[in-house]
Order: sequence, then C-alpha cells, then structure tokens
Amino acid sequence: EHCFSKSSDGFLQCENVKVQDIMESVERRPFYLYSKPQITRNVEAYKDALQGLNSIIGYAIKANNNLKILEHLRSLGCGAVLVSGNELRLALRAGFDPTKCIFNGNGKLLDDLVLAAQEGVFVNIDSEFDLENIVAASSIAGKKVNVLLRINPDVDPQVHAYVATGNKNSKFGIRNEKLQWFLDAVKAHPDELKLVGAHCHLGSTITKVDIFRDAAVLMVNYIDEIRAQGFEVDYLNIGGGLGIDYYHSGAVLPKPMNLIDTVRELVLSRNLNLIIEPGRSLIANTCCLVNRVTGVKTNGTKNFVVIDGSMAELIRPSLYDAYQHIELVSPPPPNAEVSTFDVVGPVCESADFLGKERELPTPAKGAGLVVHDAGAYCMSMASTYNLKMRPPEYWVEEDGSVAKIRHSETFEDHMRFFDGL
Ligand code: LLP
Repeated sequence: EHCFSKSSDGFLQCENVKVQDIMESVERRPFYLYSKPQITRNVEAYKDALQGLNSIIGYAIKANNNLKILEHLRSLGCGAVLVSGNELRLALRAGFDPTKCIFNGNGKLLDDLVLAAQEGVFVNIDSEFDLENIVAASSIAGKKVNVLLRINPDVDPQVHAYVATGNKNSKFGIRNEKLQWFLDAVKAHPDELKLVGAHCHLGSTITKVDIFRDAAVLMVNYIDEIRAQGFEVDYLNIGGGLGIDYYHSGAVLPKPMNLIDTVRELVLSRNLNLIIEPGRSLIANTCCLVNRVTGVKTNGTKNFVVIDGSMAELIRPSLYDAYQHIELVSPPPPNAEVSTFDVVGPVCESADFLGKERELPTPAKGAGLVVHDAGAYCMSMASTYNLKMRPPEYWVEEDGSVAKIRHSETFEDHMRFFDGL
C-alpha cells in the first residue's frame, strides 16, 4: 500500500486524511507533507530483504535531514551515512549508534574527521590526501579508526551525469590500479587505521539491479585480494542508489528485495557483513510538496500554472531536468477544461519550473497542487533564493493525526544573521 491515494470522491489523501483538509488547517505557505507510516513501511521492506544477512542499513542523511524523521529512522534500527561534520553532529543528536554510522566524502575536513575518530564511526578512505587526514585525525583524537576503502569500480549506473559517481573519471573513490598503494599505506599505520572493509557507490536513481550485481562481483574480488594480504576485512558496503517510480507510470521497478537478492549469495559466500546506504528509496515516496495555485496565464504557445512553491523549495526539476509527478489535490469541477501546462513558481528566472507540459484540468485560484515524491533531495536542497524562506514540514501519524515536524523559516530568522554587526 502507498500513503498517497485518491478517496472515492476524488480527493488526494495521505493515509486516509484529505490533503485539502490539511491545507486548510495549516499556515498559507507551500509545505512538505510526509507519511510517518510510509517511512516505517519503507524501512520494513529493507529489513525483510536483509533477513538472514548481517547488515547495517545506513540511511543517507543528505537525502533528508529532518530531526524528527532521523529519530524515527533510528528508532527503526537504521544507522546513518554522513558527508559532513554537521551531519555527524545531527546523527548523534538523533541518537544514532556511532558504530552504525559511516562517514563518506571526497573532501572530508580534518576537524570533521577528528570528530568522526572520537565518536568511533566508520570512515571511508577516498584518496591519498584523505588517508593522510584520517591518520592525522586518529593521532589528534588518540583513537584508532575503522576504515573502508572506497573503490571506484567503473560500472556505469545509466543515470543522469550529475548523479553518477562510480565511473572511472568521477571525483569519488580510488581506482583499482592504486589498490596496492592504499593497502601498503594502511599497513604503514597500524596504530591509526584498522581496515575493515571495502565500499562503493555507483550513483543514484538506478533502476536496474544488474548494475549493483556487476559492482558487487568486482567488489568481492577486491575483498579476496585484500584478504589474501592478511587483512581481516568483514564489511562490504555497496552504497545506495536504488531508484523509485517518479513517473507513476505503473512500470515495475526493482524493490529492496530485488536489490538484495542479486548480491545475497555473493555476500554469504565470503561471509561478509553487508552495509547499504539508501537515501531516496527510504524517504522519497513518503512526501509531497503541497502548493497553492496563484493563477493561470498564457504566453505565446504556452499555458502556465503559477504556484507559490518554486525551485527554492524543490530544485530537482531545474537542476536535473527531473520528472516529479504533479496533481491537483481536489477533484476539478465537472466543466473544467484539461490543457497542457508548465507548472512554474514565482522565482525570477526561467529555470524555475516544477513540471513541464503536464496535462491538468485548469485549476482555480487557491487550488491545492502537489509535487509528489518530494521526500528525498527536496527539502534538504531547498534554498532561500528570492528570500523565499524554507517551508514548514508536517507528517501524518499512524492514528491519522497531523503534526508539525519543522517550523517554517521566517523573515526574522533571516535578520538574525545580521544581529550585532
Ligand atoms: N551513499 C553515497 C556515498 C552517496 O553519495 C549517496 C548519494 C547515497 C549513499 C544515497 O543515494 P540514494 O540511495 O539516495 O540514491 N541530489 C540528487 C541525488 C544525489 C545523490 C548523492 N549521493 C537528486 O536529487 O537526485
């Protein structure tokens, strides 16, 4: 079952609560609306898939860093994948177990690595200079660091270039021809580094599980090589990247079970612990951005629906030409004309669109319009461009009640940056 559905009288609902009713009860702003039970169901799908394996579900915090959502994911047993010291601080505030946390990134800063060393999280080695910094951080913290080698396996994830990471010319990870150099460097620092595994991350929005399988085959071969040199490595981290059904086309896309099934035997054959790093597939489909229609206009051959939300709240269409499904919250009047619209915001540039060429019944002023699958990389990438202050977030809970889980940013919040200057 999925959290967003249509009522028998044609209203969009979230866990059986009408979105129109929620709109009328909250402040007049675009807002993010989540389903808490859907988050639970998404985690359960991974847990079911991982039965019989020793594993860590490392939720990629960059996808969505709402504290209440993080606390919920932690309560369900997830670990966390971090790319900055602040994400690590937030994970600790949310109560994540540091031994289920993985610190990733191609430009990790020394101060952040010191914090990671102190807290005892796994750290992925990304480059020669990164290894140097991790060794330095270990000395400063006085703690040995559990490290994984982030190997760039050169497998094409077949996704938009901006979200591909595991191809050989990408800025992430190390190439296999340098593997021996890194193994020697780790051996040279027995007091600072303990090599516990290997990591790869191919990219994001991947919709073919064979791609994960191809990478896992390469990765277990690397692990065999590493073990042959006397390292006791126990962890295979295959990263995140599973895509979701943004098009709502009914196409059958791989689910967590399909993903894990393609690597299960490999993982068992080497007696490994599996780490996965899902972001999007845990959180994207639990949320939509709820907007109000400001008006409808026509220029040249184009019809526009202008809404109060924009690229400031949700940048994926502008940045990646990403498709996110759009629909009206309430059934249209019986005589409403259906036309093709670009759905745009009020921001002062033409990159500001949420959807292009969408068939919609002509909406009335004030009508509710949602952009679906907005749980991942939407609020976390929101900006205050045009001083559009970031929107509030709400979720529907198990009992159907609606709770605010983040305040709206205000003009006063903005002015605080200048206090006392
Ligand atoms: N692990 C690593 C090392 C990553 O770099 C990422 C995402 C993940 C895990 C989680 O991947 P996921 O399961 O969410 O696909 N802003 C883009 C996506 C950027 C992904 C960055 N890395 C978007 O909106 O599509």
